[in-house]
Amino acid sequence: MLLEIEGLTKEYKRNRLPFPAVKDAALSIGAGDFVYLTGRSGSGKTTLLSMAAGLLKPTAGTVSLEGKNIFTLNDGEISFLRNTKIGYIPQGLSLLPNLTVEDNVRLPLYLSGKLSGKDLPREGTKKARSLLEQVGIAHLAQAYPPQLSGGEQRRVSIARALINDPVLLIADEPTGDLDQETTAEIMRLFSDIAGKGAAVLLVTHEPETVPYGNRHYLMKAGTLTQKN
Ligand SMILES: Nc1ncnc2c1ncn2[C@@H]1O[C@H](COP(=O)(O)OP(=O)(O)O)[C@@H](O)[C@H]1O
Ligand SMILES: [Mg+2]
Repeated sequence: MLLEIEGLTKEYKRNRLPFPAVKDAALSIGAGDFVYLTGRSGSGKTTLLSMAAGLLKPTAGTVSLEGKNIFTLNDGEISFLRNTKIGYIPQGLSLLPNLTVEDNVRLPLYLSGKLSGKDLPREGTKKARSLLEQVGIAHLAQAYPPQLSGGEQRRVSIARALINDPVLLIADEPTGDLDQETTAEIMRLFSDIAGKGAAVLLVTHEPETVPYGNRHYLMKAGTLTQKN
């Protein structure tokens, strides 16, 4: 299994009392899977994705990526794993405002160390441009994020998540602010990625994105169930 989640639980504190946002969740994703996750706002979807991406430590349970239990690693090792293996598209906007679109997209390549020093600038630029083209905003490469619409910024964060050729792409409502046509383009891009052997884990609210997935999970008040 590419990603194996077992007994995953997260308790937050609310008015000093423990509040379980995710309860004993189990999920496994293989290479080529396109899994989508739905559920009401506040049901725990983002909390689950953050733990799956190694960004948030669970209260209990395990997340294994390619057989490695990620929360037994130290912070540096978790960052390395995340940078080299996982593409994460967070909910909301997360670009660095003082870097150009192209530099935002290239940044994870520098952090991962996947390319050696002298090839990095040229290869990084080439790759960033090709990804920006795939998400339809090549003409904005030299613009800065605050000059972009919400939908355009979203496409930049999708390109950024793909620059390291992740084996696992995790996307938290990535098409919420995109029009239908762009949503369909992005979904086809995700399908292609899954078709090439990576796995996709997508939180979605848009019913039109659903046909692209091959397995459906539902989150309800912190409890995850598989629907098909
Ligand atoms: N850092 C936090 N501290 C305390 N409670 C939180 C925190 N983050 C999220 N929550 C609560 O956990 C629940 C699940 O949140 P979230 O995972 O963001 O849900 P969803 O993504 O499904 O909308 C919500 O009730 C939310 O208020
Ligand atoms: Mg959320």
